[in-house]
Amino acid sequence: MSTTLTPLISETQIRDRIAVLGRQISKDYLGKDLTLLVLLKGGAIFFADLIRQITIPTQVEFLSVSSYRGKQERGRIQFQDAPLPNVSGRHVLIIDDIWDSGATLSALTKKLLSESSAMAIQSCVLLRKRVDTSHVLSVAYIGFDIPPLFVVGYGMDYGEGYRNLPYVAVLQISHHSD
Ligand code: IMP
Ligand code: MG
Repeated sequence: MSTTLTPLISETQIRDRIAVLGRQISKDYLGKDLTLLVLLKGGAIFFADLIRQITIPTQVEFLSVSSYRGKQERGRIQFQDAPLPNVSGRHVLIIDDIWDSGATLSALTKKLLSESSAMAIQSCVLLRKRVDTSHVLSVAYIGFDIPPLFVVGYGMDYGEGYRNLPYVAVLQISHHSD
């Protein structure tokens, strides 16, 4: 088995784009009680850079989420039994690494809508992989649209590896016998 890493989005591109997102979020949420709800583990690096580009007061909460994908079945979302943070009356902006099918963010948004008394719920992702119309909810802030390839780095993993790459790369895995 061999793996190939091909750089897709550079450190400079990520930094420049996050500066724009931070300015936009600061403007849109000015005067509102903002809570950034960070999805672990993938959203951690993106969050760390993004919050330093936000110039308005914010609160921060973390939530561990994993989506188990079988070969056929996909998108069963597990919230790891962690209680939802108290976001009563607050404007929640969920921070995650990738919008792929949208199942994770849609499920979490629905859960927050029914179980928290949040004032409003929006999402912010570094990458959007595809536009899947089966999930009605949309994402308010997107760093980059990318092709439907498997990516790692900048917080995103393959088998818990590669999260430390400072840029986003496409990971190709080839199986051959020699
Ligand atoms: P969704 O629920 O289909 O939108 O999947 C989103 C989640 O799947 C992300 O938060 C990631 O954790 C994971 N994911 C989707 N695509 C990739 C990828 O290319 N690399 C690493 N993780 C991914
Ligand atoms: Mg994730």
